[in-house]
Amino acid sequence: MKSEILKLLRESEGYVSGQQLCEHFGVSRTAVWKVINQLKEEGYQIEAVRNKGYHIVDCSDIMSREELQSQMNTVWAGREIAYFEETDSTNTQAKKLGDAGAPHGTLAVADKQCAGKGRRGRGWDSPSGSGIFMSILLRPDMEPSKAPMLTLVMAVSVAQAVCETEGVDTLIKWPNDIVVNGKKVCGILTEMSTEVDFINHVVIGVGINVNTGAFPEEIAQKATSLRLEMGHPVKRSPLIASVMHFFEVNYEQFQKVGNLSFLQETYNRMLVNRDRDVRILAPGNEYNAHAIGINEQGELLVRRGDGRTEAVYSGEVSV
Ligand code: BTN
Repeated sequence: MKSEILKLLRESEGYVSGQQLCEHFGVSRTAVWKVINQLKEEGYQIEAVRNKGYHIVDCSDIMSREELQSQMNTVWAGREIAYFEETDSTNTQAKKLGDAGAPHGTLAVADKQCAGKGRRGRGWDSPSGSGIFMSILLRPDMEPSKAPMLTLVMAVSVAQAVCETEGVDTLIKWPNDIVVNGKKVCGILTEMSTEVDFINHVVIGVGINVNTGAFPEEIAQKATSLRLEMGHPVKRSPLIASVMHFFEVNYEQFQKVGNLSFLQETYNRMLVNRDRDVRILAPGNEYNAHAIGINEQGELLVRRGDGRTEAVYSGEVSV
């Protein structure tokens, strides 16, 4: 009931009367009053005016399961939420939930991770209040060879969500770093549990630097946060809900089409490396090339010095 009261208060322009809430939920005035008090204790600013009712002044960056549920406008993505004040890694938690039978679309979210994982065995710094640390559990009906494309589907979804909710120009560095003003604000780590020709589940972990105030000197040239770029703090829960919305829409198209053709143009428009000379850092193979854009499989098409076009399917690029 708490998340639904929050949703109702947020969606109404003016005041919602106690009577309306009682009737809507079929509960007593005291029960409504108790929930309102709990919400106030959690940090929500709710005005209660006699003969008018309740009105929410939505200003703080609150994270809880109910807050996230109240923001979510999806059918399956992020409808089930496991929220942690602190955990090792949301990817690890989502995998555990997957092994225990949690449904497609279950989302693990943490305020803080003490063993956040990055790509290529790196860590992911995840202090409390600073960022979005979340992992979605998927049970895709597709061949395991197609699963890496899901990471690109998520990359576009995050870029679309950041652009829509924050109004900031957001680009993608192939394959899946989200970049604002030339610096990384988000990384994505996909992990999979498969049989030979069958996917048990896929976990896509997303780390967004939202309110990080400063970065260590060694990465300050390359990393940034939304707050640093926009000059004001950003609320995490609406951004999480927006990522889930875009991901759900894009994922359903991907399931239908079976490749990235429907997203190729959007991705390539956001591709920071497009039409640029880049250095390809493929496993055991580094070389310079000219980046053209992704193909339907999400591979990066590059032109080599001798004029040959090649599709790079794994690795990273440095500009
Ligand atoms: C990268 O190295 O760019 C990928 C970073 C991915 C970090 C996210 S934070 C939420 C999820 N849980 C993890 O342990 N890692 C991912």
